Amino acid sequence: MMSGHMPLATCDILHAPGVIFKIMKPFLKWAGNKYRQAEQIKCRFPQARRLIEPFVGSGALFLNTNYEHYLLNDRNTDLINLYHALKTEGRPFIDYCKCFFTPENNKKDAFYLFRELFNTTQDTRLKSALFVYLNRHCFNGLCRYNSKNKFNTPFGKYQQPYFPEQEMLFFHQQAQKALFKMAHFVEIMETAQLGDVVYCDPPYVPLSKTAHFTCYSQEGFSQDQHITLASLAQQLANKGIPVIISNHQTDFTLSIYKEASIETFEIQRNISCHGEKRGKTTELLAVFS
Ligand SMILES: C[S@@+](CC[C@H](N)C(=O)[O-])C[C@H]1O[C@@H](n2cnc3c(N)ncnc32)[C@H](O)[C@@H]1O
Repeated sequence: MMSGHMPLATCDILHAPGVIFKIMKPFLKWAGNKYRQAEQIKCRFPQARRLIEPFVGSGALFLNTNYEHYLLNDRNTDLINLYHALKTEGRPFIDYCKCFFTPENNKKDAFYLFRELFNTTQDTRLKSALFVYLNRHCFNGLCRYNSKNKFNTPFGKYQQPYFPEQEMLFFHQQAQKALFKMAHFVEIMETAQLGDVVYCDPPYVPLSKTAHFTCYSQEGFSQDQHITLASLAQQLANKGIPVIISNHQTDFTLSIYKEASIETFEIQRNISCHGEKRGKTTELLAVFS
């Protein structure tokens, strides 16, 4: 369990009378993030030398575990460039990101100018700082791109967007144990070795026929990719490398994870995307070991 030395970055979750866990909050808003379920998920993780996350997103599990090493991957280039900048630069980069959080910049016109700058600049440091600005000023913190890979989430109209300073500092400290990669999940899973544990949190399968889950990048995540992931998980488990997968509980996921041991729990979804509705859903953890 992480210590609660940064109160701004934590929330208290009461599990049983008298038992309070501190949860470190990711500094980015991220669709499908596992911040609120981190305790329930991580208690299924076995001891290991290194945690591999092929779909790291905002890193809720990375931030709430204490492994010696981490291999953290995501297909989203902007996300991984930001993590590189924060890992290597720390405080000066955080101060730079903070400059964009002013009342003048929290106006519709300013937002669309910064969004355009984000979509056109070649300066990776500026682009990374703008990614934090956009994440906190855009609608629901949704990371959505159009077919030309341009960020296109509209203005969020928040009274006073929160700058996640303590959360970024904590991420910077924890990132010293992490190697960040920007690859396809298959490539990352193929590098797993004995002594690793792999936690996979792919884009959810849709809950309804009208819902698609394509928010994070231009490319969606198909049924075939979910099947490939399940089969890779089984292959790694056969070699003695445990793999845990998160997803919605549906007939499809129960069928593709039939070789795993399954645990389910109900959660409240906060960020909705395309046809996905807010409200309670049943999640599962498929443990391949
Ligand atoms: C449900 S989110 C992960 C959330 C994360 N566990 C958290 O707590 O924030 C899924 C992530 O998978 C990434 N992703 C989508 N397709 C991918 C692929 N083919 N390979 C690697 N990452 C991918 C997305 O960019 C997104 O960040």
